Amino acid sequence: MEGRRLLDTLRNQHIETPAFIYDEGQLIEDTQLALDAIRGERTRLLFAMKAFTIPSGLEAIASVADGFHASSLFEAKLGREILGPGRVIHLTTPGIRPADAGELFELCDLVSFNSLTQWVGFREEATGRTGCGLRVNPRLSNVADERYDPCRRHSKLGVSIEEMRETLHSDPDLLDGITGLMFHTNCDALDTTPLLETVRYLDHHLGNLLRRLRWIDLGGGYLFFGNQAPLASEDGRPRRLFRCGRISGRRAADLDGLHQALDLLRSRYELTIYLEPGASISRRAGSFVASVIDTFQSAGRTVAVLDTTVNHMPEVLEFDCHPDAVGDLERGGYRCVLAGATCLAGDIFGEYAFANPPEVGSRVVFPNMGAYSMVKANFFNGVNLPSIYALGKDGTLRLEHMFSYNDFLQHCGGLHHVRA
Ligand SMILES: Cc1ncc(COP(=O)(O)O)c(C=O)c1O
Repeated sequence: MEGRRLLDTLRNQHIETPAFIYDEGQLIEDTQLALDAIRGERTRLLFAMKAFTIPSGLEAIASVADGFHASSLFEAKLGREILGPGRVIHLTTPGIRPADAGELFELCDLVSFNSLTQWVGFREEATGRTGCGLRVNPRLSNVADERYDPCRRHSKLGVSIEEMRETLHSDPDLLDGITGLMFHTNCDALDTTPLLETVRYLDHHLGNLLRRLRWIDLGGGYLFFGNQAPLASEDGRPRRLFRCGRISGRRAADLDGLHQALDLLRSRYELTIYLEPGASISRRAGSFVASVIDTFQSAGRTVAVLDTTVNHMPEVLEFDCHPDAVGDLERGGYRCVLAGATCLAGDIFGEYAFANPPEVGSRVVFPNMGAYSMVKANFFNGVNLPSIYALGKDGTLRLEHMFSYNDFLQHCGGLHHVRA
């Protein structure tokens, strides 16, 4: 939901802050946009649960998407609870624990092993119970920041194309039982040209293998809402819609690469094609709402302390980004520092300018926070997690969960210490 509309909604309905509000209508709209982008023969949309795991929101996504992508046993279990039997769950993780394997192979329709050693280790147990695939790493870098680049040097993510080719040459039986391949090589990209380049690369180097397989998964990392999004701000500052700092100048969606990649795969192979975006589906649907709990002057600047913290949206620190706040003015206005409520000196959202000075009790809304925020939020300093609300299509807010001292205690491993 657009931030200002959310503020209007909040004027009429009481909520406890800090709060995380997800907009059901926006989730469904953005899932549909992704589906429209990839629509066509033998193509399926999975939602990457790692970005957002609120169960009622997953239900909304599942009303449009074909299935989910999971990264762990817990995500796979939750995914199956939401989807029920018969709908697709694809799992990839750099490390399957032996203790989880049996349950994972029962829960997931497709499992992409991250390495040939994991494949060899689980081959017998997995074959016949799940569709076995391999994560491949084409080592075609698209992400400037190495920390988020799956194709970085000495990458831990997937089998290199050279190793695949070498195996096909020297020990082809090793790949018996493999029915699909997956790759994931980008982050917050609007331009899908790199996807086409990657597919062409695989077609060129692994065409013979692809002809024998049943499915391919092209990963996530692309934003399908493209030019409908509020893009770079006037002063060119990165906006929260993008994590990896690849913003420059004008932005427009470019789905040509995606469509050419899909055409290429459909024309040359009999594969079912999966895509598994996370941020594209969930980012615009989520907002944090905080209240100002104190204001004071510090070396000539007003500091407004909020009842939330960057630890509720750790990517603010991790990606060093400046989250959007509703009402933040490009020019003029009353400048202030929005700060989090923990002891960490760097627990600040940044400098903002509002039409009016912040006052104790006033609300601050951070929009476009639906992806990789609540799933990473933590209890640092014992600050409670934001209450979760769903904004229904009729404009009413529904409380989904309010965290309590018991949640904190459980997280600390001390629930049994609670006195009767
Ligand atoms: C294997 C895999 N699939 C899908 C995704 C979703 O990516 P995004 O949220 O950028 O679309 C990720 C993100 O890290 C991933 O690692």
